[in-house]
Amino acid sequence: MKELIQDIDLIDPAEVERNGVKVSPNANSGQNRKLYIESYGCQMNFSDSEIVASILAKEGYDTTSDIEQADLIFINTCSIREKAEQTIRHRLKHINGFKKRKPGLLVGVLGCMAERLKTNLLEEEKIVDLVAGPDAYRDLPKLINQVDDGQKAVNTFLSREETYADISPVRLNSNGVTAFVSIMRGCDNMCTFCVVPFTRGRERSRDPHSIMAETQALFDQGFREVTLLGQNVDSYKWSEKENNKARIEKSGAEGIINFAHLLEMVAKIHPDLRIRFSTSHPKDITDEVLHTMARHENICKNIHLPVQSGNSRILELMNRGYTREWYLKRINKIREILGKDCGISSDMIIGFCSETEEEHQDTLSLMDIVEFDFAYMFYYSERPGTLAAKKLTDDVPLEVKKRRLEEIIRKQRLHAEKSNKSDVGKVFRILIEGTSKKSEQYLQGRSSNNKVAVFEAQNKNKGEYVNVLITECTGGTLLGKIVA
Ligand code: SAH
Ligand code: SF4
Ligand code: F3S
Repeated sequence: MKELIQDIDLIDPAEVERNGVKVSPNANSGQNRKLYIESYGCQMNFSDSEIVASILAKEGYDTTSDIEQADLIFINTCSIREKAEQTIRHRLKHINGFKKRKPGLLVGVLGCMAERLKTNLLEEEKIVDLVAGPDAYRDLPKLINQVDDGQKAVNTFLSREETYADISPVRLNSNGVTAFVSIMRGCDNMCTFCVVPFTRGRERSRDPHSIMAETQALFDQGFREVTLLGQNVDSYKWSEKENNKARIEKSGAEGIINFAHLLEMVAKIHPDLRIRFSTSHPKDITDEVLHTMARHENICKNIHLPVQSGNSRILELMNRGYTREWYLKRINKIREILGKDCGISSDMIIGFCSETEEEHQDTLSLMDIVEFDFAYMFYYSERPGTLAAKKLTDDVPLEVKKRRLEEIIRKQRLHAEKSNKSDVGKVFRILIEGTSKKSEQYLQGRSSNNKVAVFEAQNKNKGEYVNVLITECTGGTLLGKIVA
């Protein structure tokens, strides 16, 4: 992923975020209708595609990785920046070619773009037969029947309760070692630049019993790492009383389970199961969460804490709910409780409405203070319907945005290199995720603080833990050898 930030022309957000398009694998009885799903956007979307595959598997659909074989093509879409939507529109044009050759082919648009554009999508993209928003996936079998009966089908109803808690996802593109577990949906934060509250609806937390059951099942199947997913994991909150459930040992006052409690419960499933989580919010991450991380070796020492900007006026315009000083204090607290080896990564938006050159310099100076191990960097893209689109002016010229982006990318590259160089000579406990992309004789995996390491296989296999002495580093990867 780090290689992707080396060329500014590659800062196609969908490209950076999607980690390569993810498509469904082959799971065929050879007799049923075949579903091909392509997913864009964030991890939540990939996780949702696994729920979609599970719902349709129950209805007897097979999945395929070959779009030519598909009877149904679903594109699970992202709206976060204009470019993300453009990528999907191009893709739909391409898919039109398949539809011409195979008239019965059903094309569905799922996810955030479906939610944002609703029935308009049917008008704009004539080849689309079905539109389903993120809370409407249980309705897919019915919607497909509707299309089979010759109608167009749309459900973009946003729910206050839906968490798909009882659905066990079919793991797509799985390496059998790492998996995502969704713990909440939606977002109540209303950052002024962000479309997510409109596409994903109100925030709701998933029943911890079902989170535990899903995680335990993953461990029993041989998975060794789960990433707990939510737009703002720190505001996870589940009340036993309201949900009429038995008391859980970990719960705090009045039977409330917060994110720290949940983390601890999941960490106790097994010491060999690693826990990651994303995304934390600087205004909400608590000391209790940091102390819980410190208490459990298997909770990975890495925090994705998106700052967005290093300037307090811009942060206020963004409605982020914290200042530069607050953010830096949280970083100090992380270092105090978890030590300087805890990885810290961020998201950054430059060129937000009215950002001056000095304010941009504040983002650069904040980067110098924190020295993030990794960052996703974007220039501001105005999204229709957001508070910023309604109330502020997108007035930083594109050339200025591009130049500022280039500056933060250059700085980030230096910091990542410095961080990687300082790892040479250290020994990391690595969870092996599979063979290296370049050679079968090499394995690759990640350290607790989320560094990718590549090393000679020496009869080890994926899913095992090994100690690796780091001997050199290239770009985004650490190279090393297994030691006792
Ligand atoms: N919930 C997470 C982020 C979700 S979106 C959080 O609050 O941090 C992922 C990232 O996309 C954001 O952190 C932000 O950096 C970026 N982003 C969101 N809206 C954007 C926009 N309109 N233009 C450019 N980048 C945007
Ligand atoms: Fe968007 Fe802000 Fe919610 Fe993140 S916290 S999803 S940036 S509104
Ligand atoms: Fe994109 Fe929706 Fe995720 S807008 S980033 S897919 S929540």
